[in-house]
Amino acid sequence: MTWCVVLLSLLLVGCVHTDESQGFDTHTDGSQGFELWFTTNKDEKERAPIYFDNPLPTWLKGTLIRNGPGQFEMGKRKFLNAIDGYSKLSSWTFSGNGSAYFSTKFLRSESYKESRTNNNVAPFLTFGGVAPPFSDIEKADAVGHQLDNTNVNVFQYMDDDSPVFVAVSDVWKLYEFNSSLSTLGPVNAKHPVKEPADRIGFIDSMSCAHSLPEYGTSDTYFNFYSSLSLIPGIKHKLTLVRINSVNDRQVVAEWDTDKVAYMHSFGVTPNYVIFFIAPYFVNIEELLLHGSVGDGMDWFPKENTTVYIVNTKTRQTYNMNISTVMALHHINAFEFPDGKIAVDVAGHQDPFFSNVFKISNIYNVTSRAHSKYRTSVTRYIFDIKKNNYITQTWPDSDKYQCASTLEVPTINEHYRSKPYCFVYGSVFNFDGEDFAHIALVKKDVCGQKRDKALYIPNHYPTEAWFIPSPPGGATSEDDGYLATIFLDGTTKKSYIALIDPKNMTITHKAILPTVVPFNIHGRFFPDSV
Ligand SMILES: [Fe+2]
Repeated sequence: MTWCVVLLSLLLVGCVHTDESQGFDTHTDGSQGFELWFTTNKDEKERAPIYFDNPLPTWLKGTLIRNGPGQFEMGKRKFLNAIDGYSKLSSWTFSGNGSAYFSTKFLRSESYKESRTNNNVAPFLTFGGVAPPFSDIEKADAVGHQLDNTNVNVFQYMDDDSPVFVAVSDVWKLYEFNSSLSTLGPVNAKHPVKEPADRIGFIDSMSCAHSLPEYGTSDTYFNFYSSLSLIPGIKHKLTLVRINSVNDRQVVAEWDTDKVAYMHSFGVTPNYVIFFIAPYFVNIEELLLHGSVGDGMDWFPKENTTVYIVNTKTRQTYNMNISTVMALHHINAFEFPDGKIAVDVAGHQDPFFSNVFKISNIYNVTSRAHSKYRTSVTRYIFDIKKNNYITQTWPDSDKYQCASTLEVPTINEHYRSKPYCFVYGSVFNFDGEDFAHIALVKKDVCGQKRDKALYIPNHYPTEAWFIPSPPGGATSEDDGYLATIFLDGTTKKSYIALIDPKNMTITHKAILPTVVPFNIHGRFFPDSV
């Protein structure tokens, strides 16, 4: 082992608290039962009571809902990437009187229902393909059907005058479901164009699973869609939309693009929406040839990332080229008093983070050990008057030296589009020994090194969602709970944990009646008063 590897190991070990009296030991195997996280679980539950080891606060009223893959094959055909698994919704309802309930059900999407009927993976678009592969006719069908398995995130939009839950992915189509997690049906909202002729020659390409609230509103969101031009000489389009309700979308701004890029999130400030267009572009010929998104995209590492900044009041759009970065997840954005715009991202150097979720990698301990990705929590500060930008990063604390490499970032949503200090996230392979070694971290982006981390060997946590203490009760930005779902690989049981974000320790825990497979995103919906 060379001196630099030794040094790197020492640095990485510093990521988590290593007080052995609390069971932290970064040098145990720490990956027992990891495969179970990516194993089909067909169990469904509705309002099964769960019991916490400590009394729940009475102010905690509402439902945490999470979305993610829950079945990884149908009949003899398997998905090659775990993130293609059929959407399974799970929820945890807190009544405010100490009781809590757990539900979990598969989303009855068209692709799921057709697959079940035929006991075979139906030909819809996937990210990573299937084995055995689709025939050429099925690949064409898959591209035509597009992506239907909305297994990435959940939101609550208005539908007429009532709120409804929706399951979303990086596409325009979404599915509605109710508080019992029963699927209500698909929604293909009408495209908000001036004339139907404006859509002739274009096909839907992508949207994203991370709508963001319009600043100062309670139920209006921003998102986008990209339109792929099928007519030579006619450029593609990128459209920023305001989501007033499930079916009511409004164009905020639209502009032509030379290529169609994959984009999974964006940023919102009180006056601007900010897009980072990384050079990861749709290759329609490859998409048609392979019938899967991952094989139908090209990465151009020597090209810059283009940033579009849209003034949502004037609709003026600025653009700027920056050094290549793939901002898979935006963290937060806000405006300084002098008008400059801060955009914080978990930035990657390439778009291949999802490759680590290939089934062949997940189930292979040797391969998993080498599964690494490089990300960096980075602030971009844009000066649109001078058409320039600078970047800023924050040194990790001496004790937790991996906090800047987090993924699936979450914040206290009360600080959305405002100055803030704390971002929470997961660091996969935090010690460089195994992708299954996952630390939950808290990163201080106010530069005071108040980083923290939580790691339990053989326990696998999902994204941690911040539930703030109620208005009037919170004394600081990190006053509340982080809610996350762990799989305990040793007992082969899942449990929900509430974590005190101030010190990243578990305060409440309830074992669940069935295993909750790996899931991607979710959020807490407080009960309306
Ligand atoms: Fe995401």
